[in-house]
Amino acid sequence: LLSLLALLWVYMAVVGATHTADLSRKSFPKGFLFGTATSAYQVEGMASKGGRGPSIWDEFIKTPGAYFSFFKHLLEDINLMVNLNFDAYRFSISWSRIFPNGTGKVNRKGVAYYNRLINYMLRKGITPYANLNHYDLPLALENKYLGWLSHDVVKDYADYAEFCFKTFGDRVKNWMTFNEPRVVAALGYDNGFFAPGRCSKAYGNCTAGNSATEPYIVTHNLILSHAAAVQRYRQKYQEKQKGRIGILLDFVWYEPLTRSKADNYAAQRARDFHVGWFLHPLVYGEYPKTMQNIVKDRLPKFTKEEVKMVKGSFDLIGINQYTTYYMYDPHTSPPKDLGYQADWNVGFAYERKGVPIGPRTKLYEEDILCVQAYSNWLYNVPWGLHKAIMYIKERYGNPTVILAENGMDDPGNLTMSKALHDTTRINYYKGYLAALKQSVDEGANVVGYFAWSLLDNFEWRIGYTSRFGIVYVDFKTLKRTPKMSAYWFKKILRKNK
Ligand code: NOJ
Repeated sequence: LLSLLALLWVYMAVVGATHTADLSRKSFPKGFLFGTATSAYQVEGMASKGGRGPSIWDEFIKTPGAYFSFFKHLLEDINLMVNLNFDAYRFSISWSRIFPNGTGKVNRKGVAYYNRLINYMLRKGITPYANLNHYDLPLALENKYLGWLSHDVVKDYADYAEFCFKTFGDRVKNWMTFNEPRVVAALGYDNGFFAPGRCSKAYGNCTAGNSATEPYIVTHNLILSHAAAVQRYRQKYQEKQKGRIGILLDFVWYEPLTRSKADNYAAQRARDFHVGWFLHPLVYGEYPKTMQNIVKDRLPKFTKEEVKMVKGSFDLIGINQYTTYYMYDPHTSPPKDLGYQADWNVGFAYERKGVPIGPRTKLYEEDILCVQAYSNWLYNVPWGLHKAIMYIKERYGNPTVILAENGMDDPGNLTMSKALHDTTRINYYKGYLAALKQSVDEGANVVGYFAWSLLDNFEWRIGYTSRFGIVYVDFKTLKRTPKMSAYWFKKILRKNK
């Protein structure tokens, strides 16, 4: 029996491998969309031009939008997507390019820019997925009332969102309210690693902030802003425009390090504090019980009216996934009120008994500065994607999902010829797409896949030291050159006419 099992195992491994090698558009259901993703601040450039007002990121990094300029390469880049056989493009709208002060006067040049982008995409047969906010809150609102920390932002955000529905919604049929709001709350207000760089002194190097309360307040306002925008869309635009709306959540998969009950609880705690923080309110109208029990009075509550607005406030969920970690119980009592990350009270691990969780890729050498969750190497772990997607299917009612970001980076200073020869990236994509296919075959309602990213771009705090693109960008001349991975996508996405 044992040798039979071994034979079966070998057979499965071989079939599995061929399966991966044979991946193509046809491996996915009819109508499944393939695209690439970018965000305004990371590719647009022209930060202080075209009437744009500053965002909190201009203030935070003091090198405004740097020298990147999608603005000037807009038509070329869309032609590139077409040439590589992609169907869709996920981009973001810069709030302060539309409303330089966050509210009030509209910047017509900004509107014209996005009209041009959307119209050209449609002309070329590329489906727009528009994201309304990708970390870049208008600085004016930070200065006016401390941005996401204030409930005032809910109305201002909904007004901005409504302006976009009204202006672009005749052509944009897929809206996302926020990209990775958890990252905004955790990195912006717990460890201070992202704009606006707030955290407790005891915890990080920030001069202002309170990690024990602010991440929770910020998330509460982000969820209410999301729900208010969805409400406006549903009440005034959706029926006529026939579009759908959702949110983009970062989702690292957390696997228990051992089979112990304690490690299982630790992994579940981590999932609740991470993706559950948003998905639970959106699906069930309240924060996960784990969080309620641990965070207690520091966790804001939704009023009855708010529950009605928040619960069910999505047509689709976008998942950004790059990697997976092991979680273990540290067997110590949680520190008192130190901050959001401390509330998890978990240990992170990247290997089991000396065996790494997967092949390591480059991500974030500079992250040494940061605490725990953010100081990780990125490991290539496709099975984590499968587990994450099945988890959402089972726990959250099998919603319509897009895999909205997935990819790996190379060091920014890699020579061009090495960067173009990105076979490691091809292997990474092969593995993750196979895991995605498996999830779809097992009934998960996934309808699209977006690679991060079309272009090498500005990687937030670590700037141009990281290259996530399937297309190489010379950061001085801005010349674009497709990498091997781009041609790999072109091949597997071939359409039979
Ligand atoms: C998450 C973010 O949405 C995106 O802006 C970032 O560049 C990638 N992941 C890679 O870190």
